[in-house]
Amino acid sequence: MRLNGKTALITGAATGIGFAIATAFLREGARVVLADLDLDRARDQARTLQADDSVLAVKMDVSNPDSVATAAEACRRAGFNIDVLVNNAGVIHVGTILETTLEDLQRVYRVNVEGVFNVTRAFLPGMIEGGGGVLLNMASLASLTAMHDRFAYSSSKAAVMMMTRSVALDFVKQNIRANCICPARVHTDMVDNYLKTAYAGREEETFRQFSEYQPVGRMIRPDEIAQMAIYLCSDESQMVTGSSFLIDGGVLMGV
Ligand SMILES: NC(=O)c1ccc[n+]([C@@H]2O[C@H](COP(=O)([O-])OP(=O)(O)OC[C@H]3O[C@@H](n4cnc5c(N)ncnc54)[C@H](O)[C@@H]3O)[C@@H](O)[C@H]2O)c1
Repeated sequence: MRLNGKTALITGAATGIGFAIATAFLREGARVVLADLDLDRARDQARTLQADDSVLAVKMDVSNPDSVATAAEACRRAGFNIDVLVNNAGVIHVGTILETTLEDLQRVYRVNVEGVFNVTRAFLPGMIEGGGGVLLNMASLASLTAMHDRFAYSSSKAAVMMMTRSVALDFVKQNIRANCICPARVHTDMVDNYLKTAYAGREEETFRQFSEYQPVGRMIRPDEIAQMAIYLCSDESQMVTGSSFLIDGGVLMGV
C-alpha cells in the first residue's frame, strides 16, 4: 500500500474532497484524522470507514488558533503523530469586488488563508522533529486564472499557492515537501450550496454551464482529486516539492 506507516490529518474532512482523500488514504494504509468544524458529521463519516484504530475524528475550526491547538493536542493524546498534513478546508463567496463586503472578504480569508497558516504552524514543528513530512494544500484553478464573480475566493486561493511554495522553499532541507492541487469545479456540497444561494432559480442551467466550461464536459469527482493526493503524499513523489498540480478537465489547455 502506498501510504503504509503514514499518519495524515485532513482538514474539512467531513465531506466532499476532504472525505474522499481520507477514504483513499485509509485504503492505502495510512492512519487518518478527520478534522472538521462539524464534529458530528466527521464522526458519522469516520464510522462509515469501519477502521476504528486507524481513524480519529476531531473538531477543528481552522480559522481559530485555539481550536487548532486543542485538536492538535487531541491527536497527540490519541497517538496520532502527524507526518502528512492536508490543508483542505475552504469556503467560497460568489461576487465581483463590488459585490463583496469587507466581512465577506474577511470570512473567506480567515478560513482559506489564515486557516492554512494556523494549521501549518501547529503541525509543521512536529513534522520537522519527526524527521520530515508532507504538506498538501487545496488551492484551485482560481489560484491560476481569474474567474468571473470569484473576487474573494480567487485571491485567497492565489495566496494558498504562494504559501505552499514559501513553505516548500524554507523547509526543503528539513525533509519537508509542500505541494498544492488546483482543481477546477468538483461536484461537492460546496457547488450545490452556492448554486442554491447565488444562482437560485437557475441551478440546473448553471450546473450545466459550469460542467460544459470544462472541455472534458463534466465536473470532477472528489475521488479523482484523491488519486493525485495519494501520489503527492506518498514516497513516490520524493522529488516533487513547491509545485502546483492542475486538475481542470482541460480548461487551461488552450483556446
Ligand atoms: N468543489 C470545488 O469545485 C472546488 C474546486 C477547487 C478547489 N476546491 C477547494 O477544495 C476544498 C474542499 O472543497 P469541497 O468542495 O470539498 O468543500 P465542501 O464545502 O463540500 O466541504 C468543506 C468542508 O470543510 C469544512 N469547513 C468549513 N469551514 C471550516 C473551518 N473553518 N474549519 C474546519 N473545517 C471547515 C466544512 O464543514 C466541510 O466539511 C476547499 O478548499 C475548496 O476551496 C473546491
